[in-house]
Amino acid sequence: MATIFSGIQPTGEVHLGNYMGALRHWVELSKKPEHTSYFSIVDCHAFTIPYDAATFPRAVFDAAVAVLAVGLDERATVFVQSDVPQHTELAWYLGCVAPMGELGRMTQFKEKSEQHKTSVGAGLFTYPILMAADILLYKGTLVPVGHDQLQHLEFARDMARHFNHRFKAEVFPEPKPHHLTLRIKGTDGGEKMSKSRGNTIAMLDTPEQVWKKLKGAFTDPQRLTREIPGRPEVCNIYTMHTVVTPEPALTEVVHNGCTTAKIGCGDCKKLLAESLERDLGPVRARANELRAQPGRVLEILNEGGATCRAKATETMREVKEAAGVFGARSRP
Ligand code: AMP
Ligand code: TRP
Repeated sequence: MATIFSGIQPTGEVHLGNYMGALRHWVELSKKPEHTSYFSIVDCHAFTIPYDAATFPRAVFDAAVAVLAVGLDERATVFVQSDVPQHTELAWYLGCVAPMGELGRMTQFKEKSEQHKTSVGAGLFTYPILMAADILLYKGTLVPVGHDQLQHLEFARDMARHFNHRFKAEVFPEPKPHHLTLRIKGTDGGEKMSKSRGNTIAMLDTPEQVWKKLKGAFTDPQRLTREIPGRPEVCNIYTMHTVVTPEPALTEVVHNGCTTAKIGCGDCKKLLAESLERDLGPVRARANELRAQPGRVLEILNEGGATCRAKATETMREVKEAAGVFGARSRP
């Protein structure tokens, strides 16, 4: 038995990096009968950097559509973080046992506070406490995250340990990472496809939009002409092929074609566009269906929120009892 928890911030279009690096794995993990899973649109995390309040509800809705369209079904609980007030409540209790020194070492804080120099709120600093609360509220044991979130997850493990130790109670299990190692580079050759770098291909782009971005995307920088054999192991196009192009085509046509210069980068990209469409066409169709029924999306999120509030209420009762909170004392 494992309890899976993961989250995605509603901070822009879901892109192929999110899809290949994270969302596909969420679906896979949620299908295992021995797993109970929670996936959250973590809006409270997005409040830690400047955002547009007017368009924000739309961004949350779009993120929910994307997450559901990938194929999460009723086996998984999908919800919006702010619909469950216990996340911020638990974050307070954890914050009181969180060592400042550990927070100060977080590389994401260092990077983001540099990026948003003029508007660094305390929330950006305490972000990992909220992330720990997300996981621990559901007694999460397995957390699918990419490399950039491993440090935060280690912090969440420490939080579980600190809290249990401080109050001599086994309230929280220690969550383990399910390390997602695949990293998709940007279309500009940048180390990471990322919303903030403008080098993305959106998961829900039409084939025409995909092709426009793919056409100009970086490949192996040493393959300057069609005649020079390519190196799939350093090529982002090949990385994406490994996710969506099945064998034997992957090895025989794409890999061998590239290393023997039988196919050029343009041919290789055309094949990738076809594979992407085969994989993502149905996702886009589901997203369109969901967008046409906004009431259905809200219903799923409301149900998810209700399930989470029930679970969160149970956990908070244990937390408060352990921490000696007045309202949790046994009443006559
Ligand atoms: P974010 O967009 O930062 O909220 O990330 C959501 C999830 O997508 C996290 O699990 C990230 O690790 C993953 N992710 C984001 N960008 C990439 C990328 N370029 N390659 C692989 N995974 C990614
Ligand atoms: N911080 C994560 C990110 O930026 C999102 C997130 C918030 C998360 N809470 C979480 C991921 C809990 C895993 C578990 O990608």
